[in-house]
Amino acid sequence: MSIFMKTIIFIYFLSLVSCHPQSYNAIFSFGDSLADTGNFLLSGAMTFPVIGKLPYGETFFKHATGRCSNGRLIVDFFAEAYGLPLLPPYLALKKGIKAENGVNFATAGATAISAEYFYSKNITILWTNVSLTHQLGWFQQVKANICAIRKDCREYLKKSLFIVGEIGGNDYNYPYFVGGSIKQLKALVPAVVETIIEATSVLIEEGAVELVVPGNLPIGCSAVYLTLFGTPNKDAYDKNGCLKAYNAFSKYHNAKLKLAIEDLRKEYPQAKIIYADYYGAAKRFYHAPKHYGFSNTLVACCGGGGPYNFNNSARCGHIGYKACLDASKFTNWDGIHLTEAAYYHIAKGLLDGPFTSPPLTFPPIKQI
Ligand SMILES: *[C@@H]1O[C@H](CO)[C@@H](O)[C@H](O)[C@H]1NC(C)=O
Ligand SMILES: *[C@@H]1O[C@H](CO)[C@@H](O)[C@H](O)[C@H]1NC(C)=O
Ligand SMILES: *[C@@H]1O[C@H](CO)[C@@H](O)[C@H](O)[C@H]1NC(C)=O
Repeated sequence: MSIFMKTIIFIYFLSLVSCHPQSYNAIFSFGDSLADTGNFLLSGAMTFPVIGKLPYGETFFKHATGRCSNGRLIVDFFAEAYGLPLLPPYLALKKGIKAENGVNFATAGATAISAEYFYSKNITILWTNVSLTHQLGWFQQVKANICAIRKDCREYLKKSLFIVGEIGGNDYNYPYFVGGSIKQLKALVPAVVETIIEATSVLIEEGAVELVVPGNLPIGCSAVYLTLFGTPNKDAYDKNGCLKAYNAFSKYHNAKLKLAIEDLRKEYPQAKIIYADYYGAAKRFYHAPKHYGFSNTLVACCGGGGPYNFNNSARCGHIGYKACLDASKFTNWDGIHLTEAAYYHIAKGLLDGPFTSPPLTFPPIKQI
């Protein structure tokens, strides 16, 4: 065979490998501010208007997109890794953006349990009433539209990735922020977990086959918790400076969620229900910050001062806030949410393993 022919054949094989990689058709994402790519902002963001201006979005996008971060989120890195466009927020669909490669229903401030529940307990600090059930209703509308156009919609959904969360963090945040105790909040865990599991089973009934259900982050390492629940008692902190009791709470939620996922797998053996260990993926950079290029893991990059640069009455974006010069050296963005750099490392830990179990069906087609 001539060199010329060999080259032609080689190029042909290369094109087979690089142009037709197996991937997901679409990603459908549910959750709260950890995954919201614009729904909260599009709904008016009345309870947190600073999200609509810089420094939110200063990295990568160079303008505010409604993401509660300086840049991209875990779900954005997933879309990039699978060669899909960044997911449009559901509320932007009305403006003519296509849903072909997936939609993001996540809304900042969202709770798993319905908003009415919190109002009935006199907890009225909710950012939004768009709970997980509300987001499921949005998905059902989108699905009806997709299936009206595509005959293969069953197959299409089968090869789509559903990310159910992270959700539930706010179900605890709101009560904690108005004085709830760890003991009281532990009693709420079964109801939160049940709501997440119920939503996951509704999605399976709707045709989802591959679903990722993330657990909660280590909230005891978060600037808002460190500020509100800080104590002179050194024993309350672990060696990374995080509040032990609040991290234990996150672990408690995650353990209950994992158990419930095991039961759900028995109920739906045809589905692949993946637990995503956000806690474990994040804990690595609190434990060994330098390894991930971080100089600061506990102090927020952007905020109104104080030991953790978090002041509830002077938050990032409000008058007098201070933002760090290099957000890639910080894990915490605004006291509550993480930086793009932190989300990148969490996403990488999920995509490359070992923090998704079982692993995702299609390996990422691009390095992130
Ligand atoms: C909520 O507040 C109202 C008015 O202050 C009070 O009457 C009611 O008992 C409270 N409910 C709960 C569940 O605390
Ligand atoms: C949520 O619903 C309650 C009760 O209907 C309402 O008072 C409140 O303004 C709503 N909050 C938001 C953020 O939409
Ligand atoms: C928080 O911000 C408010 C409003 O700017 C200010 O009055 C207060 O002193 C700040 N608190 C701390 C602890 O820095």
